[in-house]
Amino acid sequence: MTNREKHIAECCESFEKLIREQLERVDGMKDGIEKNKNECTVIGLIDGDGIGPVIMDSARAVLFKLLENEMSDGNVKIKEIGGLTIENRTRLGQAVPEESLREIKTCDVILKGPTETPKGGGLESANVTLRRELDLFANVRPIRIEEEGVDWTFFRENTEGEYVLGSKGADLPGIAVDFKIITDAGTERIAKAAFDFAKNNGKKKVAIVTKANIMKKTDGKFSEICNRVAADYPEIEASDWYVDIMAANLVNPKIRKQFEVFVLPNLYGDILTDEAAELQGGVATAGSANIGERYSMFEAIHGTAPRLIEEGLKDYADPTSILKAAAMMLSHIGYPEKASTLGNAMAEAEKKRGTGKTPTSEITNAIIRLL
Ligand code: IPM
Ligand code: MG
Repeated sequence: MTNREKHIAECCESFEKLIREQLERVDGMKDGIEKNKNECTVIGLIDGDGIGPVIMDSARAVLFKLLENEMSDGNVKIKEIGGLTIENRTRLGQAVPEESLREIKTCDVILKGPTETPKGGGLESANVTLRRELDLFANVRPIRIEEEGVDWTFFRENTEGEYVLGSKGADLPGIAVDFKIITDAGTERIAKAAFDFAKNNGKKKVAIVTKANIMKKTDGKFSEICNRVAADYPEIEASDWYVDIMAANLVNPKIRKQFEVFVLPNLYGDILTDEAAELQGGVATAGSANIGERYSMFEAIHGTAPRLIEEGLKDYADPTSILKAAAMMLSHIGYPEKASTLGNAMAEAEKKRGTGKTPTSEITNAIIRLL
């Protein structure tokens, strides 16, 4: 057999394995989820890498203050989850060390600082692993541009698309192939989450964003299933958009405020939500929720900020994004009034903040004084 034939045969074999695994994953989705067994709400905190520990210290201080009574009454427990540093993950060759994952699974919700993702070979992203292992299928990212009346909520599918097999493509001499997976069950659940959100929050419109003219099979299915789900919500107007024109629409102040809720596959959601966050005031200003049936994880929308570290400005990292994520988490675990207290304190502290660089600890203390 020539080398080429050998490579083709190996690819076919591994493709078969991938398809079987994915079909099994879908079967698992239908099996139903084991619900919470904890008697109180257990919050896990993960520091992460780069500016992670600095902004998480800010979140930690805020949460201890806001949840003081709940913690002493035993209604809330906060657990520190270790082992997710890039050094430890690299040493073990595990994107999320087994022991850390076991600890994470004893929690109900997680607040996580950014974790470093090596580019190319090597480790899978810890985010991607956690989203998959905890089946956090809905990445919910709210964006507001208040002065314009822009109020967007993105529902990014978080466990499939371009990400699920992103580390399992084929890299042969002269050619590389990656796979994109869209499933009926995976699309139905994110579509329902988006339309339910619209219905329960007085929104009238959901934009379905794909590139179904090019990715005919996968995005074609995504759009078809979202439209099928939309039929159960006659009061909400569903519209189909291609991701390129939607990227343009978001920077068009004349039309962007007409959009309300977006539902989109994983990679487009990744890209458009960074764009949207930038329009809101920068990626440091947006929180992000990863929601599943059993677990949820809340995090900053941005990464570990290696440039800030290089410039020696770690202790000036802006904690806004992680604090917004913390507020989303408080709402999610049943304390919406604490979430608004935090949101108001952040807005108030920001108004008083001078221009120029402010140390993270100073930003945190100003917020805490207003809680
Ligand atoms: C995000 C991030 C992650 C992603 C990275 C860190 C893997 O950009 O949460 O948007 O691509 O999903
Ligand atoms: Mg991103």
